[in-house]
Amino acid sequence: MSNLDLKDYETIRVTPEASGFGAVVEGIDLSRPLAEPVRQEMLRAWAEHAVLSFPRQALSLEALEAATLQFGPFGADPFIKPMDGHPNVLELRREPDEKATNFGAGWHSDWSFQPEPPAATLLHAQVVPPVGGDTLFADCAAAYDALSPVMKDLLAPLRAVHSASRAYGTQGVFARETEKRTMQIVVSPEADKTHAHPLVRTHPVSGRKALFVSPVYTVGIEGMTPEESQAILGFLFKHMTQDAFIFRHRWAKDTLLIWDNRRTVHFAEGGYDGHLRVMHRTTVAGEVPV
Ligand code: SIN
Repeated sequence: MSNLDLKDYETIRVTPEASGFGAVVEGIDLSRPLAEPVRQEMLRAWAEHAVLSFPRQALSLEALEAATLQFGPFGADPFIKPMDGHPNVLELRREPDEKATNFGAGWHSDWSFQPEPPAATLLHAQVVPPVGGDTLFADCAAAYDALSPVMKDLLAPLRAVHSASRAYGTQGVFARETEKRTMQIVVSPEADKTHAHPLVRTHPVSGRKALFVSPVYTVGIEGMTPEESQAILGFLFKHMTQDAFIFRHRWAKDTLLIWDNRRTVHFAEGGYDGHLRVMHRTTVAGEVPV
């Protein structure tokens, strides 16, 4: 921990990850309502580091819901049946005998096809497998910063087209799946709709610009042919998921993680076949990307 971080935060301890983004936050109990100065420091740390992990937070579902609301109102989670009695909580569960690809195994920003995609996602670790199951994050602001001025000018006016079709659409991956899956996915023609957002978005709090595209949900660029879109998007997907922009989160039971969908994309790694993995997930509502 640097002296700067000790001085910067008076009510919480914030230890930046070596990756250049992401931080561990300690000295906070998310099972209780937070005093306003603590909440403000937590929000500031989140805006600065994009992915915050809070170790040793044993939270009931009600406490997870209350912790989520400290960041903002719930987002809307389509295409997955929520937990009974908890309409804003998804259980990401994969049983030891499941062979289907683990949920979230593709780079994406959550629900980016929505008109107002969620600002944040929270994931709370219930059962962590002894091997595998890490979550990877890419810093799309650092990736944007690393582009040449000419490429930034080229991207500035573009609008990327997002859709849930490849995953949840009538011809999507889940519609064609034959393997057992415990999570109840709701395939729908709604998922085949598209919505365009600026390809580069500006963070409403930090003011930083970030690439806002992903291989899972971005299906094209407005006004371009599929070949033109593919050339630009293919370059960006490869560029933003280079090692230099990645933070790997290794889970421990009771860790709560929050990430900023406006600045990051994430990828749920597998590698734990034969073991149970259970996470509880909520989202925080966002705004129209600009
Ligand atoms: C996701 O929300 O994409 C899943 C992340 C994970 O299970 O690690």
